[in-house]
Amino acid sequence: MSAPIYEFAKNYAESGVSRFHMPGHKGKPLHGLEPLDLTEIRGADYLFGAEGIIAESEARTAALYGAAKTLYSTEGSSLCIKTMLAIADHCRADKSKRMLVMAPRNVHKAFINACILLDIDVEWVYPAEKSRSLCSSGVTAHDIWASFRRCPREIDAVYITSPDYLGFIADIPAIAEVCKSYGVPLIVDNAHGAYLKFLDTDTHPITLGADMCCDSAHKTLPCYTGGAMLHISQNAPAGFVECSKLMMSLFASTSPSYLIMQSLDLCAEYLAGDYRKALAETAARTELCKQRLNAMGWRTIGDEKCKITVASAERGISGDSLGDILRKNKIEPEYTDPDLAVLMTTPFNTEEDFIRLEAAMADIRPAEGTDLQFDGIPEAIVRMPIREAAFSLQQEVPVDEAKGRICGMTVTSCQPSVPIAVSGEEITPDIISILKRYGISAISVLR
Ligand SMILES: Cc1ncc(COP(=O)(O)O)c(C=O)c1O
Repeated sequence: MSAPIYEFAKNYAESGVSRFHMPGHKGKPLHGLEPLDLTEIRGADYLFGAEGIIAESEARTAALYGAAKTLYSTEGSSLCIKTMLAIADHCRADKSKRMLVMAPRNVHKAFINACILLDIDVEWVYPAEKSRSLCSSGVTAHDIWASFRRCPREIDAVYITSPDYLGFIADIPAIAEVCKSYGVPLIVDNAHGAYLKFLDTDTHPITLGADMCCDSAHKTLPCYTGGAMLHISQNAPAGFVECSKLMMSLFASTSPSYLIMQSLDLCAEYLAGDYRKALAETAARTELCKQRLNAMGWRTIGDEKCKITVASAERGISGDSLGDILRKNKIEPEYTDPDLAVLMTTPFNTEEDFIRLEAAMADIRPAEGTDLQFDGIPEAIVRMPIREAAFSLQQEVPVDEAKGRICGMTVTSCQPSVPIAVSGEEITPDIISILKRYGISAISVLR
């Protein structure tokens, strides 16, 4: 049996058993997927006490990724991120101080939520070469090393986001070396990189030296939304594997979606099949598409093989306007902002998709534009720990009246949920202008 969770659900759906259990639809189709939607009945195993079909499926996926352990998440990488930080917190030796995690600023909101819930402090890394986008950090191993040297407190873990939303990939082997020399674990938000393992050159974070990473299977693999994996390396510190399920259960629903688990299960079977070949073809077609766009006068940026990021403002059209034109041509991009448009590709994109995109881009005449305007987040003035500020009494004020106040609830760009002002930080005039640039007109500050 190669997809045990799916096989169990299918056999059960076909068995004609009277379902005196959740879910309420009893397997009768309304939407269409109900027959395979289950709860933790006998034989169906338990996600957080897995010993049967779920354990078997997770072990199979762990073997595919070369991980010591893989945990399924039916609540995205958001759940995995909280779990990874809880694991690192649970296993650190010196608990006399609040945990301190080093991270470049382009973290996903789930990281901040974990800091609020677990009372974690952050040592923000500001790379020597400033990023031109909120979504990217451009962090190097030297930046991480310099932050270790500068930081007066002991760091408990390093956390980086790679690939980032724009498709830039960090030098994980070099960063892992720095972490190793300081004896701290490296945690990677690899939400966008589940496919990296299967490229001609395996560039998955676990292969390259990360201790833990999360992969949003639903972002780049054929999985239902919400399907994600938390991988723990064979070289991870003692205790990581053992406490991992318990740590995940702290934040997760006790009703994990069996549909999502089945899609992770079937996905593993797919990955073990012809996926590598299909992915190589997609990477080659994506590269050809980038070359064609660049020949038309556009500039594509980023390292990822399956992401096309067009720096369109440089060619006289904002990413948001480009997105509108693409939509008129029946193309929906992943993300746009004033500077950029991002498109993601997988083997499930057809040749027709690529041709449609190339034709739409050929119809727009690139012109003289402006350089990327955004100049990175300025160094934060931290006035209070994140958790303390997040749970303090707050009031909402127009951003123009927020100067000098302390940020209450972290403010993120609407998509892709990267923080502009973090709970406990002072709202400065620079932060106010970035908030306005992202269309944010009011924020909550401490009373
Ligand atoms: C970089 C990054 N990390 C984490 C997440 C959260 O992933 P999920 O939607 O699987 O919870 C996202 C979502 O967009 C993301 O872009």
